[in-house]
Amino acid sequence: MKFTPISLGLVLLPFVSAAVHNVQVGGEGGKLLYSPEAIAAQPGDQVVFHFHAKNHTATQSSFANPCGLKEGGFDSGFMPVPVNQTDHFPTYTITIHDTEPVWVYCRQAGKTPASHCGQGMVFAVNCGFDDAPNSFGNFKKAALAIGASLSADAAAQPTSYPPAYPPAYPPPAAQQYTTAAYGDYTIPAAPEVTPVTQTVTLGDQVWTTTYNSYPGSPAPTPASAEGVVHKVIVGGPGKLVFDPPFVAAQPRDTVVFEFRQKNHTVTQSSFADPCRKLASGGFDSDFVPVADSITSDYPTWSVVVNDTAPVWAYCRQKTPISHCGAAMVFAINPVENSERNFTAFQNIAKAINGTAAAQNADPTSTAPADNGAVSVRMGGATVALAVVAVVASFL
Ligand SMILES: *[C@@H]1O[C@H](CO)[C@@H](O)[C@H](O)[C@H]1NC(C)=O
Ligand SMILES: *[C@@H]1O[C@H](CO)[C@@H](O)[C@H](O)[C@H]1NC(C)=O
Ligand SMILES: *[C@@H]1O[C@H](CO)[C@@H](O)[C@H](O)[C@H]1NC(C)=O
Ligand SMILES: *[C@@H]1O[C@H](CO)[C@@H](O)[C@H](O)[C@H]1NC(C)=O
Ligand SMILES: *[C@@H]1O[C@H](CO)[C@@H](O)[C@H](O)[C@H]1NC(C)=O
Ligand SMILES: *[C@@H]1O[C@H](CO)[C@@H](O)[C@H](O)[C@H]1NC(C)=O
Repeated sequence: MKFTPISLGLVLLPFVSAAVHNVQVGGEGGKLLYSPEAIAAQPGDQVVFHFHAKNHTATQSSFANPCGLKEGGFDSGFMPVPVNQTDHFPTYTITIHDTEPVWVYCRQAGKTPASHCGQGMVFAVNCGFDDAPNSFGNFKKAALAIGASLSADAAAQPTSYPPAYPPAYPPPAAQQYTTAAYGDYTIPAAPEVTPVTQTVTLGDQVWTTTYNSYPGSPAPTPASAEGVVHKVIVGGPGKLVFDPPFVAAQPRDTVVFEFRQKNHTVTQSSFADPCRKLASGGFDSDFVPVADSITSDYPTWSVVVNDTAPVWAYCRQKTPISHCGAAMVFAINPVENSERNFTAFQNIAKAINGTAAAQNADPTSTAPADNGAVSVRMGGATVALAVVAVVASFL
């Protein structure tokens, strides 16, 4: 018998139209505003920032620290635009992933009285209603209060030349906070970072390394041009661990993960939200299943260390139980003599039992995550600069 399949099943998928929201950054008269200042957006929508004259950014912050980069948050970088430019403005686009609020500021002249954020240059997606504690009004008020305090501090400084470096304007105090979503677990405050430039000689090569120093983190300078290899065993029969659970590594070092039995991942997360993939990307090995019968030639996967900032990671397997909730977490360069040490990170993973509840419960992520170390080699008479350590894009 011969028959022709004629049923050309046309599957009609629900058509979800993602909206594009245009936001003007700055504008005529050099105004320090995003326009509109607050929008509502659906998951999947895009927000396109159009940068007008001056030199602004669109940088993610948090409600509690409006003028500070959120750990793992996005950052457009500076977008300088000449005053006479009237069209073809550069743009930066973000995609909205959920209905949680997204807080944004301009980090131009940060921590100085000229701070754009301190002058109210802030923006929000899906903020609370007008009478809610996390309304846009309250967010902007908090930004203006930071500006006022920076101006007051500057006025109180004796005028001295050259100006103190790093600037003497104290940043708003980082706070620790307690979150009910984690069973009243306290998230220690993130430390402040200091920009540092250092020149080092490696054999016959001279390197300049610019980095944001993180208190307690290792030296930013590569020990050798090739870096060091750190081997980490992932899982194994009856084991839900990374071994060792954390490593101290320098820029250009490589961490090689050797996957053993079961089916694990190594996925980048953040200190305050150990069991959620970093929103701004971050690395992810994806699942690496290893059969019980395998006893050698285990699969491996590596990441190259780009800077000295702590890097947090977890296994995102949830079947049959959450590996992250079972404390299967890992870190590069945790600051062990601080409250944000590896044990503290692991305790948060256990406290939230592998759920990714933190985004809702994290009103005060104050982490300055901008820790990219850039090493530039100044090779003898050569003028060309070779960027050898890529800036981590945690911005
Ligand atoms: C933009 O601002 C940043 C930070 O203040 C500065 O480093 C950069 O040189 C500026 N760019 C231009 C073209 O003015
Ligand atoms: C803006 O001004 C600069 C220098 O004054 C000039 O070179 C440039 O062509 C001008 N650009 C536009 C778009 O008018
Ligand atoms: C590994 O785990 C993932 C997620 O649970 C699952 O989708 C995948 O099928 C698993 N692979 C194997 C070979 O078990
Ligand atoms: C270092 O940068 C590379 C390239 O951007 C990236 O693939 C890698 O994941 C980064 N390493 C870490 C530890 O973030
Ligand atoms: C490391 O974290 C643990 C758990 O939060 C804490 O009890 C301990 O005091 C921390 N260590 C330091 C040196 O702060
Ligand atoms: C953690 O979650 C699992 C389900 O994934 C549950 O069986 C277990 O009881 C929870 N543990 C705690 C301490 O709440």
